[in-house]
Amino acid sequence: MPGIKGPSDYSQEPPRHPSLQINSKVPFNAEPPRSALASSYVTPVDLFYKRNHGPIPVVDDIERYCVDICGLIGTPKKLYMRDVRMLPKYDVIATLQCAGNRRTAMSKTRKVRGVGWDVSAIGNAVWGGAKLADVLELIGIPKLTCSTQSGGKHVEFVSIDKCKEENGGPYKASIPLSQATNPEADVLLAYEMNGEPLNRDHGYPLRVIVPGVIGARSVKWLDSIYIIAEECQGFFMQKDYKMFPPSVDWDNINWSTRRPQMDFPVQSVICSLEDVQSIKPGKVTISGYAVSGGGRGIERVDVSIDGGKTWLEASRSQKTGVPYIADHVSSDKWAWVLFEVTVDIPYSTEIVAKAVDSAANVQPENVQDIWNLRGILNTSWHRVQVRVGHSNM
Ligand code: MTE
Repeated sequence: MPGIKGPSDYSQEPPRHPSLQINSKVPFNAEPPRSALASSYVTPVDLFYKRNHGPIPVVDDIERYCVDICGLIGTPKKLYMRDVRMLPKYDVIATLQCAGNRRTAMSKTRKVRGVGWDVSAIGNAVWGGAKLADVLELIGIPKLTCSTQSGGKHVEFVSIDKCKEENGGPYKASIPLSQATNPEADVLLAYEMNGEPLNRDHGYPLRVIVPGVIGARSVKWLDSIYIIAEECQGFFMQKDYKMFPPSVDWDNINWSTRRPQMDFPVQSVICSLEDVQSIKPGKVTISGYAVSGGGRGIERVDVSIDGGKTWLEASRSQKTGVPYIADHVSSDKWAWVLFEVTVDIPYSTEIVAKAVDSAANVQPENVQDIWNLRGILNTSWHRVQVRVGHSNM
């Protein structure tokens, strides 16, 4: 593709913030310290987790960069940045969460395959760009279309990066055409993150943002868009990011029996305390994030200071000065909520958080019950151990 290329080595990687915890150097996968997450509703770009499957692409001529749109449509189109910028611009506040968030903890009960992540493979950002529904209208696909006349039912996004899993081919994913053409689904071709042009790690010059869905479908460094009949057959849709029952292992797995994971379940994490933390006796503020997929709000966050025997309700917030009400027009439906509760902790104990979403879905109690061989969607109750010391702390 003119204007952008996907290097085959890691000699041109961008600079990164020194406080990121690196889970894999090449491809670069890193997350911020958990304490950084709950301190701001919008995650600073530097501290936003970075999840890559290959070297970061290089743009050498932004004027020539364009996205090919083709497939089961009348006339293919080349979409230049100036075309995208001419469409109405939307700012969508959306949380991106990697399906592998909290994988390290799942692996402790029984080994799983994949990059290990603590609790910070998640971030909340203001994504600025054009709605995919408006872009598709440019090529003659009206809003709220389930199928094109030539049988197109899915929209495939293809990148330019070179991924080992695709035998050196690009990263790709698809979403249903009905979601892509629904303006309410807020699917964006984003060129901004937190009011600045996207940086290289996060998909410069153009990426897809699919709110409410696992991060894997938000393809970075967009190269082409195909309107296709069946969902994308790429590795990351068909051989990865699928949820299997605990009985499936690498000897009996049949990938085709499960659908690619899209929407994600309710999640919450305590960010103000490490897994094992020493504290002084007295008042402690417990804070963290809670989020659910599909645009569902957070109805409640319960915190326990006795390992889950009794519970207290934490306060929830998004924007300063606006009371948070789940699924209300005043709340950001695709974004996480931050929670907080101050408690007195006189003795060593286990602190637990669990969230309930607006469909009354609750996080599962134990990670063992949701164990799966790829280690995705560990949304079990988040537990931390506090050791209360009485002297010299
Ligand atoms: N897009 C491309 N082209 N290549 C990738 O490796 N990783 C996906 C998705 N889009 C990926 C991609 C995954 S698994 C996640 S979780 C998100 O991007 C991470 O986005 P971020 O690095 O901006 O946080």
